[in-house]
Formats: sequence, structure tokens, C-alpha cells
Amino acid sequence: MQELPTQGYLAGKYLDYQARYRKEMRKSDGTLLTLVREMLEQYFPGRTDIRLADIGCSTGNFLFHLRQAEPQLRLYGRDIYPEAIAACQAVPELSGIDFGIWDVREPSRERFDILVLNALLHFFKEEELCNVMANLADSLLPGGVLLAFAWLNPFEQEIHIREFSAAHPNGAILNIHSYALIARLLAKNGFEPPRFTPFQIPIDLPLSEDPGDLRTYTVQTLGGDRLHFRGAIFEPVCHVCVRKKP
Ligand SMILES: C[S@@+](CC[C@H](N)C(=O)[O-])C[C@H]1O[C@@H](n2cnc3c(N)ncnc32)[C@H](O)[C@@H]1O
Repeated sequence: MQELPTQGYLAGKYLDYQARYRKEMRKSDGTLLTLVREMLEQYFPGRTDIRLADIGCSTGNFLFHLRQAEPQLRLYGRDIYPEAIAACQAVPELSGIDFGIWDVREPSRERFDILVLNALLHFFKEEELCNVMANLADSLLPGGVLLAFAWLNPFEQEIHIREFSAAHPNGAILNIHSYALIARLLAKNGFEPPRFTPFQIPIDLPLSEDPGDLRTYTVQTLGGDRLHFRGAIFEPVCHVCVRKKP
């Protein structure tokens, strides 16, 4: 039996966190948006019929900002939780965006030009990830583009962490896969070689004095890079950009 992601993504502090980024776009989302623009210019110039789906869309924040930036896109939000989808459908600011349920571990009959996976890949252990990649590949049209923001590492190392915290009493899952595994699964499913870009955040995210506050904070290295942490966990965040072979 496959494990569901924690219900902690539907309530409490997590929704407060999402509400903040409805007003002010997250820096990593800004980079994702730039990648969407680059892909549109490079692979879909002049097209006004592009279908973009945000998988694991949660409160629809990324789609909200994307619609303002690229109003010609046909936008779709998919999430495993009916409650998350119903909440998006009830928000007037998100009207016109097509929201629906999709557990990406299952195949879908829908087809898109661009898929966005924002903080989703870490849920899946290697064996699940094989199915997920196949399902994502099937739901992309030939020449379509997959963009992700994810916790991935450049070493030959597959990491599985289970965090028990107030927001996730049953355990939140954090798989930190290697670039090599992701590249291998993408190649197996008909994608071109991916580009991995470690995310360099341009601002400091403060460390809270409340040890129960697990929002990401940054620590600067002597070289000036900012490392991301969630509580005691180092987060090797990066963007992935890859095209399905035409
Ligand atoms: C960490 S949250 C990220 C939300 C949003 N994309 C963001 O970047 O803020 C992960 C989201 O993925 C959804 N999710 C988890 N497993 C999923 C699955 N198998 N299929 C589709 N959505 C899933 C969760 O319900 C949650 O909304």
C-alpha cells in the first residue's frame, strides 16, 4: 500500500506560510517563473495555446503569480488532496484556472506542454519515482518541458529522512535523490539530458527563536553563499529543467 503525504499540508502553519507567499512571491518561485519564460521563448515562440500544469499545486500560489506574468497561458493545478483542490476552486483570485485531483503516482489521460513540480519530488522513494517519472512523461506532449524545484544532491547518495514535528505528527517524508538517479529515470522515459541549477537565494531568511518554527532559514558561508536549512536538516535545493524529446 502506498503512503499518502502528510495532511500537514492542508492546515495550520503551513497555510499561514502559503498565505504570506500569495502576497509576495517566493524567490525560488521567481526563478521558476523565469525558467517558464525562457522555455516559452525557446520552444514555444508565439504560441498562445500552451497548457501548463502545476502538479502538487497546494494553495495555487505559483499559478496565481504565473497568471499575472504570463496571462496567455492555459493554467491547470493538480494535487492529490481533494481538500486542497476545493479550496483553490473557492478562491475568486484563482478563477479561470482549471483545478483538479491527480495523484501523480497514477497515470493520467491529460496531456500538457509544460509541467511544474514545485517541492514534490522529495515525497517519492526510488521505486515510486520510477512510476512517477513514467506518468509525468506520458502526460507531457512530445517536445514538452518539465520544470522542478527540488531537494537533490550531486553526490552518489540517496537519502531518506522522516521528520516528526508538530505540523507532521505522522512523519513528513524527505527523499533527497541524486542528480544521477533523476537523470537516469528521465533518460529512461524519453527526456533529453536535464539541467540542474543549485538555487542561490539572494536574501537572508531569518532563523526563528521558536524551535517549533521549521520554516526554511539561511546560513551564509564564508564565500557568501546561503545554505538552506529546515530545523536541523540541510536542504540542497535546486531547479531542474528538462525537455521531452520531440
Ligand atoms: C511541499 S507541498 C508544495 C506545495 C507547492 N507546490 C509549493 O511549492 O508551495 C507538496 C504538495 O504536493 C502535494 N502532493 C503530495 N503528493 C502528491 C502526489 N502523489 N500527487 C500529487 N500531489 C501531491 C501535496 O498535497 C502538497 O500540496
